[in-house]
Amino acid sequence: MSADYVVNGSVAVITLNNPPVNGLGLATRTAAVEGLRKAQADDAVKAIVITGAGKAFSGGADIKEFNSPKALTEPTLHSLIRVVENSEKPTVAAIHTICMGGGLELALGCNYRVAMPGAQIALPEVKLGLLPGAGGTQRLPRVVGLEKAVNMIVSGTFIPSEKLADTALFDEVFAKDANLLESAIAFANKVADVRPLPKVRDRKVDYPNHEAFLQFTRNTVKAMSGPFPAPIECVETVAASVTHKFEDGLKFERERFLHLAQTPESKALRHAFFAERNASKVPDVPADTPVREIRQAAIVGAGTMGGGIAMNFANAGIPVILLETKQEALDKGLATIRKNYENTMKKGKLTQEKFDQRVGLITGTLSYADIAQADIVVEAVFEDMGVKESVFRQLDAVMKPGAILASNTSTLDVDKIAAFTSRPQDVVGTHFFSPANVMKLLEIVRGKETGKDVLATTLALSKKLKKTGVVSGVCDGFIGNRMVEQYVRQAGFLLEEGCLPEQVDKAAEKFGFAMGPFRMGDLAGNDIGWYIRKRRYVEQPDIVYSKTADLLCEMGRFGQKTGAGWYDYKAGDRKAYPSQEVNDMILKNSADIGVERRKISDQEIVERLVYALVNEGARILEEGIAMRASDIDMVYLTGYGFPLFRGGPMFYADTVGLYNVLMAIEKFAKGRHGEAWKPAPLLVKLAAEGKRFND
Ligand code: NAI
Repeated sequence: MSADYVVNGSVAVITLNNPPVNGLGLATRTAAVEGLRKAQADDAVKAIVITGAGKAFSGGADIKEFNSPKALTEPTLHSLIRVVENSEKPTVAAIHTICMGGGLELALGCNYRVAMPGAQIALPEVKLGLLPGAGGTQRLPRVVGLEKAVNMIVSGTFIPSEKLADTALFDEVFAKDANLLESAIAFANKVADVRPLPKVRDRKVDYPNHEAFLQFTRNTVKAMSGPFPAPIECVETVAASVTHKFEDGLKFERERFLHLAQTPESKALRHAFFAERNASKVPDVPADTPVREIRQAAIVGAGTMGGGIAMNFANAGIPVILLETKQEALDKGLATIRKNYENTMKKGKLTQEKFDQRVGLITGTLSYADIAQADIVVEAVFEDMGVKESVFRQLDAVMKPGAILASNTSTLDVDKIAAFTSRPQDVVGTHFFSPANVMKLLEIVRGKETGKDVLATTLALSKKLKKTGVVSGVCDGFIGNRMVEQYVRQAGFLLEEGCLPEQVDKAAEKFGFAMGPFRMGDLAGNDIGWYIRKRRYVEQPDIVYSKTADLLCEMGRFGQKTGAGWYDYKAGDRKAYPSQEVNDMILKNSADIGVERRKISDQEIVERLVYALVNEGARILEEGIAMRASDIDMVYLTGYGFPLFRGGPMFYADTVGLYNVLMAIEKFAKGRHGEAWKPAPLLVKLAAEGKRFND
């Protein structure tokens, strides 16, 4: 049963009951229609109250039915709303807590709406690249006015019910301490005999000179929505509530909804939505796996990463102690944190009270004894196995039993690190991205022996820290950096063959990357890659890299931090200026290695960069380093500035078609440094079967 039916005196109460948020799935819709029928047939019933059980009126469409034929099975949401709207007895929506999407559209089909204060009211469909498709664009402006409706529908953000109390959306917003159901029933009794029944559809949207307003809105929204078509479609559809008759407006809304649902941008957004939800699910770690409580955290190393990581804990209200070897380093780390918070406060994004609170949660020490009672310790010292070994041996000696021992290493073997301790089950990798207080991605590296409860705890912690946690197996570079190495390698070869940094970056940025590979290198520090390559030259001498990046580092051009990298930088300005010196070096290098430079198209640049990611991604998937293709997409969307409207590299490859991707890779394999293009067996297999990574 997913909607309950009871009669209370002369009022029938239909309670949507589909936890957690009363999503309007088929069973709920069917039960609601059934309840409405019963109420019509019962002479004792004079009015009908519709409400929601538990923690919501209704959160809207049932996400379990997304992309499933169930959503289109009768009674559809449209049919349910029609039954409500055609009821011969007055219907009253009794709204509380959450009333979003289809839930709000259902409420708008009722004759009356009453609400508790604090209920979240929203039509968030735009966030999935859609528009409200069950009458929301036509009914909402009829009760809150054109301007408010456009704002709500284009932004998708929620407004607390009390802020809408003065609109015709609500007939009454009750006092905080009211009993919703009792008050709604009293209201229903009061209006039981009122005829004709008021209907939102019969109201007019009044807005003098609406054309001028709409034109202004179109311009603003177009300028703000980038590659996404949904926001402007939302404006056009809401506009129809003024310019069209109600039924014609509904038809228009339906047509635009179906159009948007087919756009690659909406498909990408919906993919990302599910990818994020799925990322926290690990097949052999059931949802009811016990988690350890994290009440106190510690960080070893107060450098770039340690400081940022500490801020994450403080922002989440978890006290955190930073441990350093020298007072000077500790003071510097703490001062940087304070400065970061001060800057945020100066921008008006942090109140003095929150500043005090957060800074107050962060303390420092030079003694391991002071961190022994922490529930989790994150190691963020130099990227050197010897240093990691000494830290983990000390942690093993002092930390209380059950403490989670995490490492922020970006390249080292987490299993080896775990082996320095007598409790490898408590060791896990937590690979934050720089700047750690800003970047959403957290790669959670599951070692051979990492305990299931440790993994579950770390995943839960990532949510608390407002990060997107993605689980990776142990390998060099984990998911993100292992793939990016292939991408950067191609970027290097492109320089040798005919490109300059600016052309490569522009092509990548036109594709939608937040930053091209060379601007990214200048931001992250070109010396990091140099350090890794020098190790590879010894350990894996058969991997070929372009020499250009080494030559750049030999010139001391490490990036923004040294004021010069692939580009020139001016003090106090992050803008990248093409560098004559670097471009000369690139041309000279081509001549030195005997490569005749050629004109390279933007298409080739993008294909070589992106398919390098895809091919390595396929290997990572095949080896089980990533559990699913969508996890790889999440890593790239949240950690590497991959364009959201393309859904991540693996989803993008699916969109292009794996057969086409493979054809391009086979072509590159015949070109210069073709050895870098051995197609991943999984890609070959899926392309042959006509399948997708994300199937
Ligand atoms: P950093 O050099 O800025 O900071 C390291 C800090 O650790 C220094 O303050 C140093 O005094 C301290 N330290 C060194 N040995 C110590 C010891 N035995 N006990 C206590 N403190 C000690 O380095 P960064 O960039 O913060 O990197 C730290 C870790 O994070 C490395 O493993 C690195 O690979 C990883 N990482 C770095 C990223 C980045 O973009 N910088 C991104 C992701 C991970």
